[in-house]
Amino acid sequence: MENNQSHSMKHYPIWALLGLSMLLASNVSADTDPMKSPQFCGGCHTRIYKEWQSSAMGRDLTNPVVYQFYSGTNGKGEQDGIGYQPFTHGAKGDCADCHVPQLTLDEHGKGREVDLGVALKEKLDHGISCNFCHTIEHVNLDKGADGRYKTRLFETVKLDESGAKHGPIEDAHSPAHPIKVSALHRDSKLCGTCHLNQEKFLSISTYADWKEAYDSGKTRDTCQTCHMPLHADKVELALGGPLREGVRTHTFIGASDQGMLKQALDLKVQTRVEGRTLIVSTTVENIGAGHRVPGSGPIRNVILKVDAFGPDGAALKYAGDPKGLLPSLAGMGNPKTGARDALDWAGLPGKMYAKAYQSAVMPNGQKMVGVGGFAADTILFDTALKPREPDTVEFRFALPEGTSGMAEVKASLTYRWVFKTLADSKGWSIDYRPMREVHQPVSF
Ligand code: HEC
Ligand code: HEC
Ligand code: HEC
Ligand code: HEC
Ligand code: HEC
Repeated sequence: MENNQSHSMKHYPIWALLGLSMLLASNVSADTDPMKSPQFCGGCHTRIYKEWQSSAMGRDLTNPVVYQFYSGTNGKGEQDGIGYQPFTHGAKGDCADCHVPQLTLDEHGKGREVDLGVALKEKLDHGISCNFCHTIEHVNLDKGADGRYKTRLFETVKLDESGAKHGPIEDAHSPAHPIKVSALHRDSKLCGTCHLNQEKFLSISTYADWKEAYDSGKTRDTCQTCHMPLHADKVELALGGPLREGVRTHTFIGASDQGMLKQALDLKVQTRVEGRTLIVSTTVENIGAGHRVPGSGPIRNVILKVDAFGPDGAALKYAGDPKGLLPSLAGMGNPKTGARDALDWAGLPGKMYAKAYQSAVMPNGQKMVGVGGFAADTILFDTALKPREPDTVEFRFALPEGTSGMAEVKASLTYRWVFKTLADSKGWSIDYRPMREVHQPVSF
């Protein structure tokens, strides 16, 4: 049986320990060297700074969701038992690696691990900063002999500590810093540094999925060509520098961008009538992403929802296999009152596309579904859509007896950044992100 997150975690009795672990963890030296701050770079690279600031990576340091999911707190700062530290009795783990990378490497050099919660709260790092990306000299993403990736940052990345900034433009000259021309900055590997996370499973598989698609010719794009779209006009790289052609933006647009969502998937609907049954066949294909969709970690999901209406506008009764109904992760209602809202879709006809993990190690023995990679024991289902591999599903609805007329089918694809059940348990909200919608009349 699937159980709702909050039910199974409510009684987890380690909250008292967390305060202590926080205190012990503050013993780190901040890497807030002003010469490494994005604000410093932004003094000359004004346009790029603004673009970066608008992106999810530019806002990582202040993302409340990351802090709350790490520390097991809610929006009011109270322990709610749901997240990484409650699960690991306050351990630091590797969470800091990709979220505060410079601090992680510095502390690793001193034989210490970083507590991500403390680093975020006390702003001990500059986050996914200009300086971090532009001092990366070498990235190694090879698999080990056991067939698993080593994704700790100190194993994958080598930084250039000389002060030189690495970038792709061959004839750039700066009075402020030496420059090294870098082919790596046009290579997806640079992004793979963090967009690949080997836990028990490869819980963030974006780079590996892209590599498979790229090597088999299913995409010719790199992370940069899709996520850093070209400026249409000539722009300068730094104040007073020359105008240049073919410069890419630092907006790192992703699943919060309507255009990206609309380009990602295709949805086709075919209908037929057999006796008193309306059969709706949907085909969803990843036509626009260079990796699986949803393109990342295990809390994202895309929901195909299929509705059919009779001539009077009333919803037709679903008459197919129960497997054609949406799972609990699509939303079960308020965990305390059971009241459902308009986004609670569990049990309605449709299909969820996601990589969903299950955990069985909670003290009361209950299984939790939709957990983060850190808590994953088994794969509940993995339906994320690989590039150019269409997925076809049939849904059956009962047509009204004794009449004929027109029915209507409505199929839609919606993106959710987190499972509804997890959002409800954590008090997070889900915004409406439509991807595709098809309406089709059917005569019977
Ligand atoms: C996540 C890594 C990352 C971060 C963070 C980042 N950059 Fe870049 N930057 C890149 C990549 C990749 C390119 C190369 C794009 C291409 O293919 O042309 C680049 C290109 C550049 C260039 C060369 C000209 C251009 O635009 O192509 C400059 C200058 C630059 N970045 C400055 C900055 C500054 C300043 C910041 C912070 C405000 C910053 N970058 C943040 C990855 C990053
Ligand atoms: C190997 C790099 C890496 C490590 C290690 C890592 N993350 Fe992340 N994290 C990412 C990337 C990349 C994203 C962007 C979304 C995606 O691709 O899943 C992300 C996104 C997130 C988000 C979603 C934020 C949002 O607004 O949607 C949360 C929460 C999060 N991480 C928490 C953690 C916690 C907790 C840990 C430790 C268990 C952790 N991360 C370890 C790379 C990493
Ligand atoms: C005092 C002004 C100034 C500051 C501060 C500054 N830069 Fe630059 N930077 C420049 C100029 C000028 C260029 C060259 C522009 C050109 O040739 O079009 C440049 C070029 C670059 C390039 C392009 C290299 C290439 O070959 O593609 C990168 C990357 C870069 N800077 C990163 C940074 C980072 C990271 C910081 C902050 C740690 C920073 N810069 C701070 C002025 C500055
Ligand atoms: C130092 C680690 C690191 C590197 C290197 C890195 N990323 Fe990220 N990226 C992250 C993390 C962490 C997040 C999640 C931030 C958050 O939500 O708080 C993220 C988020 C994103 C998003 C999410 C956008 C959204 O709105 O959901 C995109 C797109 C992205 N990165 C693209 C790239 C590309 C392209 C590159 C290479 C040029 C790259 N990243 C390199 C760590 C990294
Ligand atoms: C052919 C274009 C294309 C290429 C190549 C591509 N992406 Fe994407 N990416 C997309 C589209 C479209 C989406 C929106 C749909 C989705 O979220 O899966 C997306 C979404 C994402 C997200 C957002 C997921 C989230 O949780 O918010 C991240 C992170 C990301 N891509 C990283 C990468 C990285 C890293 C690479 C290279 C290894 C890459 N992408 C290569 C098109 C591309």
